[in-house]
Amino acid sequence: MSRVLAVASGKGGVGKTTVVSNLGAILTEAGKNVTLVDGNLTTPNLSMHLGIPLYPVTLHDVLKNDALIPEAMYVHPSGIKVVPSGIGIDDMQGTDSRQLPLAIDELLDQTDMVLLDTAAGLGQETISTLEATDELLLVTHPNLPSLTDVLKTKNLAEDFGIDVIGAVINSHTGSRQELNEREVSDMLDGVPVLGKIPYDRKVSEAVAMKRPVIHHDPHSPASRALKEIASRVAAEELDVDYGRKGLLRRISEFFR
Ligand SMILES: Nc1ncnc2c1ncn2[C@@H]1O[C@H](COP(=O)(O)OP(=O)(O)OP(=O)(O)O)[C@@H](O)[C@H]1O
Ligand SMILES: [Mg+2]
Repeated sequence: MSRVLAVASGKGGVGKTTVVSNLGAILTEAGKNVTLVDGNLTTPNLSMHLGIPLYPVTLHDVLKNDALIPEAMYVHPSGIKVVPSGIGIDDMQGTDSRQLPLAIDELLDQTDMVLLDTAAGLGQETISTLEATDELLLVTHPNLPSLTDVLKTKNLAEDFGIDVIGAVINSHTGSRQELNEREVSDMLDGVPVLGKIPYDRKVSEAVAMKRPVIHHDPHSPASRALKEIASRVAAEELDVDYGRKGLLRRISEFFR
């Protein structure tokens, strides 16, 4: 049976789209049949993270009943399958996010896993993504304001009967003020922490270059953490080999 896994945080800007684009890239590289869907309908960014050009048919057209979801599927040059959302303000007009669960259902015979990016906040579009998913992965920064929003998201998701499979701590710096894995898990009533992604300038570089950090620098600390998280999400050791980094390159990067 196909899995539907949404990635949510409550708070904006904590790394949901970074996690979705990179898990999608890693799982695709490992040979999994995964489809990314940009469920962030009001402020979609997934296509920018992946460098997807303006696409004639988007999820918005599907939600307006103007297209079927396979028509909105874009295949990235690396093989990642994506259903982007429209980025224009006009795209919102006449869009009914409550159609999302139906649209996702129509994808399930074509893919083994849907990874659903979500909007910040807990408004109707987030509710629609919760109605469309079976599983949820939470993303939080290691601080109290972020974790408070994640806790609300988790509680809401559980009211919908969703399986909250874990949390990802993003942008940790090692500062003493940061919450650690145990504190995060305890505050989330025992939800396991599936991984910690360090603050890594390679991530912002990759976003600027419109590609997942796993493609930009597969050996960066953030990429290594994302690979581990992908294995935990897939519940198996993934066979992804981005090649070994030469000694010379490592030395030159160290001095840079
Ligand atoms: N581990 C990291 N290290 C450094 N920068 C990061 C890291 N993770 C994310 N960022 C930066 O934070 C920005 C926001 O990340 P992202 O777009 O993934 O967040 P989001 O939760 O999807 O935001 P929104 O709620 O607006 O959709 C990105 O532009 C990226 O440059
Ligand atoms: Mg986002």
